[in-house]
Amino acid sequence: MQWVSDILAWYGLHQRVLPWRELPTPYRVWVSEVMLQQTQVATVCPYFERFVARFPGVNELAEAPLQDVLKRWEGLGYYRRARYLHEAAQVLVERHAGQLPRSPEGLLALPGIGTYTAAAIASIAFGCAVPVVDGNVQRVFARFWGIEESTRTAPTQRRLREGLTAAVRRSMDPSSFNQAIMELGALICTPTSPVCGSCPLSPGCKALAGNMVAMLP
Ligand code: ADE
Repeated sequence: MQWVSDILAWYGLHQRVLPWRELPTPYRVWVSEVMLQQTQVATVCPYFERFVARFPGVNELAEAPLQDVLKRWEGLGYYRRARYLHEAAQVLVERHAGQLPRSPEGLLALPGIGTYTAAAIASIAFGCAVPVVDGNVQRVFARFWGIEESTRTAPTQRRLREGLTAAVRRSMDPSSFNQAIMELGALICTPTSPVCGSCPLSPGCKALAGNMVAMLP
């Protein structure tokens, strides 16, 4: 799996400087992933900075009046995310000594955290070797592995998850590996006009070799 080292090397050189990457504490990773659930990176950045300045940790968030939390969320939309974040902070203080659970299963039990966000937090904040699979990741690997079946079907989902689980284990750096794939999907392997000439995965890409990039997924 030479491609695993190649994508990590590419990420080391080309990753964007993002506020949660500079100091990836579990709290900051959690807040950033919840903001990123329905909002673009560029929009999230200034909101993230203001939010963690006002609520620097789980305790401050749990103690804050909900109205203050919603105030800092104003403009981001999907306000249910802010309510869940506030509620989850209170659960963490009351039942988890103010700490985020380290496993995807533990994280999944908190309000506002689904499968994708649980895997993102567990891998980025705690180095847990679980893959993150969203639409961007599916697109990158439908192309790289030349998967012609719909990425929505259960067998294809399983195939993607199994392939990525093996790769994230092999990587020895689940945080960088998962973020590298997200970054590749955002910057290079875009839905339209992907920049294959700059892609670290191009040497092994089945879609590129078969002239099918525009057709997959
Ligand atoms: N989208 C969701 N999570 C992300 C992350 N950690 N970095 C960049 N884009 C993301």
